[in-house]
Amino acid sequence: MRTEFDPDRLPLTILELFRIKQGEMVSALMHLGTRLGLWEALRDSEPCTSTQLAEACGLQERWVREWLHGMAATELVQHDDGRFALTPEARVALTDSDHWSFMPGVFGPPMTHYEIERTAEAFRTGVGMTWAEHGEHACHMQCAMSAARQESFLVPTVLASFDGATDRLRAGRARIVDVGCGAGVAARLLASSFPQATVVGIDPSERAITAARAESAAAGLDNATFEQGTFDDLDRFGPVDLLVTLDVLHDLPRPQDAIAAAGRNLTADGWWLVADIKGRGDLESNRKIPVLPYMYAMSVFYCMSSALSEPGGEGLGTLGMYPARLEEMVRGAGFTHFTRHDVELDPTNWYYEIRL
Ligand SMILES: C[S@@+](CC[C@H](N)C(=O)[O-])C[C@H]1O[C@@H](n2cnc3c(N)ncnc32)[C@H](O)[C@@H]1O
Repeated sequence: MRTEFDPDRLPLTILELFRIKQGEMVSALMHLGTRLGLWEALRDSEPCTSTQLAEACGLQERWVREWLHGMAATELVQHDDGRFALTPEARVALTDSDHWSFMPGVFGPPMTHYEIERTAEAFRTGVGMTWAEHGEHACHMQCAMSAARQESFLVPTVLASFDGATDRLRAGRARIVDVGCGAGVAARLLASSFPQATVVGIDPSERAITAARAESAAAGLDNATFEQGTFDDLDRFGPVDLLVTLDVLHDLPRPQDAIAAAGRNLTADGWWLVADIKGRGDLESNRKIPVLPYMYAMSVFYCMSSALSEPGGEGLGTLGMYPARLEEMVRGAGFTHFTRHDVELDPTNWYYEIRL
């Protein structure tokens, strides 16, 4: 490791520091773009001036112009002679809600003062925050991060690759349970894809369950119900033909108890579909991940914090449930079948088919 100060490297360090701060500030501009309808208006117009965009959104031109200049300084918005347009790719990722890459919801409102204070306290006490404790925005953000990918990949790609699963779920009165369902995107998707099945979504967050129930009612689904609870409650809902656990295991203070509950409640020929982050097992191997600092930041504030929200929690965190660890844990709990499915387009998750 280097120890000598190198003045030639200092400008790069300063640039890196500003890039980090820039991420925070531009994220907030992105959030305003969603909140004020600016992305949709850009999508729906020909290349436009700041005056035209301001009129389309009912906003003040001077504010819209400064926002546009900031956005045109990124790779997302093109500028030519006073007119602005989204790049074709940004148009998809920011405005096409049917596309797997749709992600404007990731840019939620910035974290609150309470969350920063509470996290600083957790560094001292060791005890972190549950997802629910973060408040409303976290509930929206975690859904927004995964909804488009789940809608695009879960049934047609992932479940379709589980031998015989979709045929059985379509044919019979199967029981599907999604534990850690958040606001219920995947549960609703499964209920509408498999109308003969009954689907239960379970999550400890009252806010998430309330949102899941409202969305499910709005979609007119009569085969999906949502219950406030945790993995500890799974015994009340078994036996389960398809158990679903999406981006949850690494957040749990006691993942080994959850895996044991899954084993107790899966039917002998059932499937456990687990999605978890494409972690590699250690810091140096994780460097292959293009947005690694973001992943560790998510872990400190959300995932590891949740996994340490009980004293003595396992604390795996965002990148902590990597394939070898998950396989060892599930085989140790009596599962005999473990297959990892890689959906190449999905930058975030591996999908696991786990059976007794
Ligand atoms: C990252 S979110 C994933 C939500 C959803 N599955 C998705 O993919 O959008 C993790 C979820 O796990 C839930 N959770 C935390 N502790 C849990 C527990 N002990 N049992 C079940 N779910 C839990 C949180 O409330 C949160 O909704």
